[in-house]
Amino acid sequence: MSDKNDQHKNTFTGDLGKYQILETEDGSKTLHSEAFNEACHSLSGAVEETLYNYVEGCEILEKLIKNDLTCLEVGFGLGTGYKTTVEYLAQIKPTNKLTFISTELDAKLVEYATIENKIEKDLPYPDFSSMELRREPVEHYIAEKESHKLIILIGDARQTVLKAYESNLVAGVGAIYQDPFSPKKNPALWTVEWFELLAKVSSEDVTLSTYSSSNSIRKSLIQAGWKVFNRIGFGTKRTATKARLIGESDEEVLLQLGRSPVKALEDSDIK
Ligand SMILES: C[S@@+](CC[C@H](N)C(=O)[O-])C[C@H]1O[C@@H](n2cnc3c(N)ncnc32)[C@H](O)[C@@H]1O
Repeated sequence: MSDKNDQHKNTFTGDLGKYQILETEDGSKTLHSEAFNEACHSLSGAVEETLYNYVEGCEILEKLIKNDLTCLEVGFGLGTGYKTTVEYLAQIKPTNKLTFISTELDAKLVEYATIENKIEKDLPYPDFSSMELRREPVEHYIAEKESHKLIILIGDARQTVLKAYESNLVAGVGAIYQDPFSPKKNPALWTVEWFELLAKVSSEDVTLSTYSSSNSIRKSLIQAGWKVFNRIGFGTKRTATKARLIGESDEEVLLQLGRSPVKALEDSDIK
C-alpha cells in the first residue's frame, strides 16, 4: 500500500518500484512506471484509449450480444481496462455472461488500483471490493456477480496464463487486450512464443487488439499463426493492430512486412 508521503507527492510505490500518477486529457488517471520508464496509457486519454483500442478494437459488444465471452487482458495496471469495459456494457446491458481475466506482475499495484479505481456497486458486474484471494492453481483474485466473473492472475503472465490454462481457469478466450508496456520496454510479452500461448488459450473466433503497429510484433503474431490487420491508431498513434486466428491478413500489411528487414521477436532475442 502507498504511504502518506507517496500520496502527497502524487506517487505510489509498488513491488516494481515507483509510479507517478498522471492526469490524461480526458480527465482520467494513468500511472508512469519508473521500472519500465513508460506510462500505462496514452496521455490523450486513458479511458478514451481503452474504449477505442480494446472495447471497440476487440468488438466486445458485438461478441457479447451473440454469446458468452471470455476476455483476457495482458496487464491490469490501474484496472482501467476492466472498469471501462463494464461501465460501458452496463449502459447497454447485453444478457450474455462476461468472464474478464486480467494479469499483473505487480501485486501491490493490484491492491492499490482496486482501492483507487472504484466501480459502482449497482453495476451488474463484479466490483473490486468483492474480490477474494486464492492461491491455487496460481495466485489470483476472483469475484463473481450475476454469473459474470472477474479474475486477476498475479505474477508473470508468461507463467500464470499457461498454468491457468493447464488447470482450466483460462480457456476459450474470445477477446484479448494486448496491453503490456511497449515491445521496446517489455519484449517478453511480444514474442512469437507469447503469441503462440495466446493462440492456445483462445477460441477460433478470437480478436486481439493492441496499440502497437511495429513490424517486428506483427511478424511475431504471423509466425505464431495469427492473421494481422491494420487499424487507425488512437491519439498521436497513426496505426494500431488487430489480429485473428481465422481469415487472411491484410494484403497491405503483408506487403509492408515483406519490405521490412526487421525480424519477428523471439524468446531467444531477449537478454
Ligand atoms: C500498460 S499497463 C496496463 C494498463 C491497464 N490495461 C489499464 O487499463 O490500467 C501494463 C501493465 O502490465 C504489467 N506487466 C508488465 N509485465 C508483465 C508480466 N510479465 N506479467 C504480468 N503483468 C505484466 C505492468 O506491471 C503494468 O501494470
